[in-house]
Amino acid sequence: MKNLIQNLPKAELHLHIEGTLEPQLMFRLAKKNSIKIPYETVDEVKKAYEFDSLQPFLDIYYAGASVLVEKRDFYDLTWAYLVKCKEENIVHAEIFFDPQTHTSRGIAFGDVVEGIVEALNDAEKKLGISSFLIMSFLRHLSEEEAIKTLKESLPYKYFIKGVGLDSSELGNPPSKFQKVFQMAKNAGYECVAHAGEEGDASYIKEALDLLHVSRIDHGVRCDEDIELMKRLRDEQIPLTMCPLSNLKLKVVDDLKNYNLKKLLDFGILVTINSDDPAYFGGYLNENYEAVAKSLNLNEDDIKTLAINSFKASFLSDEAKNRYIEDIN
Ligand code: ADE
Ligand code: ZN
Repeated sequence: MKNLIQNLPKAELHLHIEGTLEPQLMFRLAKKNSIKIPYETVDEVKKAYEFDSLQPFLDIYYAGASVLVEKRDFYDLTWAYLVKCKEENIVHAEIFFDPQTHTSRGIAFGDVVEGIVEALNDAEKKLGISSFLIMSFLRHLSEEEAIKTLKESLPYKYFIKGVGLDSSELGNPPSKFQKVFQMAKNAGYECVAHAGEEGDASYIKEALDLLHVSRIDHGVRCDEDIELMKRLRDEQIPLTMCPLSNLKLKVVDDLKNYNLKKLLDFGILVTINSDDPAYFGGYLNENYEAVAKSLNLNEDDIKTLAINSFKASFLSDEAKNRYIEDIN
């Protein structure tokens, strides 16, 4: 099974680039940029990465991101992830970045995008990995601030495929961001949103009905509403699920009780992703391995999940079909 998972070409569709910041790089950048972080050793960092819900994780994740200052830092962060993609046979990645986490500290929007995009371009040339960039709005901030960020992004639109919605879900429902998502859609961006990670099924419905997203990030709690499950299945709206993230953030108590296989068997277009691998203890293949083991997935399930990762992507139909034929 491990070999099959390794050898299958895969796409990753739910990955926050700030969530790939490994402790070693965090220490190096903190020193270079004279940023204080509350850890001295990798062991101390790993100990701090024990979370009982989403918010304590986000607090540590935003603090970690403060070491990213120069354009070069964003390049190095992104390049390190893409090298990992090559090792794991990820041939296409759709990568989130959180501009507001950086612009709020005085970092130029352009430095963030340019650093990331230079690494993505190098990966296309040197590693044969294709990618799209998705700009996420922080939902704990106001819609006005999201609109400001959307406007800032327009000169860089050529490099950005879509917009997303992440950060503290509870109390910040999709309805708060209706206007900015309409503006993003009018500007030609694809739209996705985190929903149903901690929020209930109504957050998923709002993301579909009010934000008109084409993909749901997480979506774990869709199983509270059978009509919603049927809709996701009938309209083939993808879920980008993240097993080790959901385990680490206590969305699920044990992967043996994870609903991924149930949703897959129901006919929903489920995909496996790593979310914030530096914080959750595993990159993409480790996520596949963990669910394969806990849920007794067979080889056909694994192949279906890899095929789904391309089906659910923003690649052209031609590119999707090429990868799917390769897998078959
Ligand atoms: N930002 C980074 N990872 C996230 C997650 N799992 N949920 C919400 N916001 C995030
Ligand atoms: Zn996420």
